[in-house]
Amino acid sequence: MDSKLMLVLVVAIICDCSHVLGDRSETSDQMSGWSIREYGGINSLQFSDNLELPVIRSSDEVFVEVYTTAVNSLDQLMTEGYGQRVLNTLRWISEINEFPLILGREFCGVVRAKGQSVRADIQIGDKVWGVVPPHQPGSIAEYVVVDQSVITRKPEGIDDIGAAGILYAGLTAWASLSFSDLVGGGKGKRLCILGASGGVGTLAVQMAKAEDMIVTATCSTNSVQMVKDLGADHVIDYRKEDLKEAFRGLSFDIILDAAGLGSDYATTLPWSFGQYITLQPPVLNNTDANGLVFGTINSAIDLLQSNIQSIFGYKGLVKWGFFEPSAQGIEYFRRQVESGKIKPIIDTIYNFNETKEAFDKLAKGHLRGKIIIKVKNN
Ligand SMILES: NC(=O)c1ccc[n+]([C@@H]2O[C@H](COP(=O)([O-])OP(=O)(O)OC[C@H]3O[C@@H](n4cnc5c(N)ncnc54)[C@H](OP(=O)(O)O)[C@@H]3O)[C@@H](O)[C@H]2O)c1
Repeated sequence: MDSKLMLVLVVAIICDCSHVLGDRSETSDQMSGWSIREYGGINSLQFSDNLELPVIRSSDEVFVEVYTTAVNSLDQLMTEGYGQRVLNTLRWISEINEFPLILGREFCGVVRAKGQSVRADIQIGDKVWGVVPPHQPGSIAEYVVVDQSVITRKPEGIDDIGAAGILYAGLTAWASLSFSDLVGGGKGKRLCILGASGGVGTLAVQMAKAEDMIVTATCSTNSVQMVKDLGADHVIDYRKEDLKEAFRGLSFDIILDAAGLGSDYATTLPWSFGQYITLQPPVLNNTDANGLVFGTINSAIDLLQSNIQSIFGYKGLVKWGFFEPSAQGIEYFRRQVESGKIKPIIDTIYNFNETKEAFDKLAKGHLRGKIIIKVKNN
C-alpha cells in the first residue's frame, strides 16, 4: 500500500474522522520545514525536506497547509534551549518528540483536513489564521496541526502576509494586560507602553486606542512618527529625551514593558503606576536552571521581591506577562481587524528559503513590527 494512503488511514482510524478528511492526495508523509536537532542558537537552524508530516491525533485538531508564518523572539530563544524543562514536560504529556524542533508560533494557511469534532465554521479549504502553543511542532514548515481553539477563519481585509503578523504578539499583549477586562471598560485608563515600535508594542498601542485608552508610548527617534500614526497620544523618544524629566510626576494605570527592560525597571523612573507588567518573566529561566520544583520556588521569591514595595503600599503591583493562545483573544483580533481598528505592521518579508536571514534580522533587533516568512509562493 502506498505510504501516503497508509498514513491517511492511520490518522482516520485513530481519530475516527475519516468522513471529514480532506483531499490530501498532493501530500506525501514528509514535508519541508526549518528545525533544530540540538540546542545551539540560530546557527543550529536547518532546512529539511524530510520532516515527518504532522498528523491529526484528536478529533478537535485541524491539519493546515501553511502559506505564511512569522519569527518571534521566542523562536530565537528556543534555539538556545530556553524553556526546555517546562516545554519538555508538556511534550512528554502530549507524546511529542523534542527533536526535530520545528520553530514558528503563528501562521496563515488553508485547512486541508479536520477532526470530526471541529466546529462547523471551519471547513476544508478555508483560509485560517492561528497560533501554535510553544511545546508543539511549529509553523515554519509546509504543514502544521493545531487544536481548533487556536484558529479562526482569516479576517476579511488583510492579506496572508498581514495575517501571520498579529496573533503571537497580539495575544501576548492581550493576556499580559488582561485585555478581556479592558474591552468596553478601558475608556480613559492611562496606559504607558515601553517599546511601542516592536511587534508587541505596535499592536498594544492599537488595541488600547481601540478601547479609548490614553496612551503614552516610548520608542526611538526613527519610529516616533509611526507610533503617533498608530494613535499614541504622547510619544517619548527614549534616545533623545531625559526620561527622568519626561516621566516625572506621571501616573499610569498600567505600564507595559514591551522593550525587554524587566521588573527592576519599574523602580528606575519617577512615575507612579497601578500595575507594571513586564514580558521578561524569569519563570522559564528559573526552571531551566533549577528544575521544575526549585525553579518555581525561585520564581515565587522573585515575584515577592519585585513586590515588596507594593505589599507595603509604596508602589503599584509588578506583574509578569506571557503569550497565551486564547480563543477569546483570537476572536477579538479577528473582529478588530475586520473593523479596521487593528492592522498588522510588517518590518520585513522573507521567502521560505531565506528563513535563516529572517532569524539574523530578528537577532539584530530594532524591529518595526513583524518579520514574516512566505512558506508558499502563490
Ligand atoms: N513573555 C512572553 O510570553 C513574551 C511574548 C512575546 C514577547 N516577549 C518579549 O517582549 C518583548 C517585546 O517583544 P517584541 O516581539 O515586540 O520585540 P521587538 O519586535 O524586538 O520589539 C522591541 C522594540 O523595543 C524597542 N526598544 C528597545 N529598547 C527600548 C527602550 N529602552 N525603550 C523603548 N523602546 C525600546 C526596539 O526598538 P529600538 O531598539 O530601535 O529602540 C523594538 O522596536 C521582548 O523582550 C520579547 O522577548 C515576551
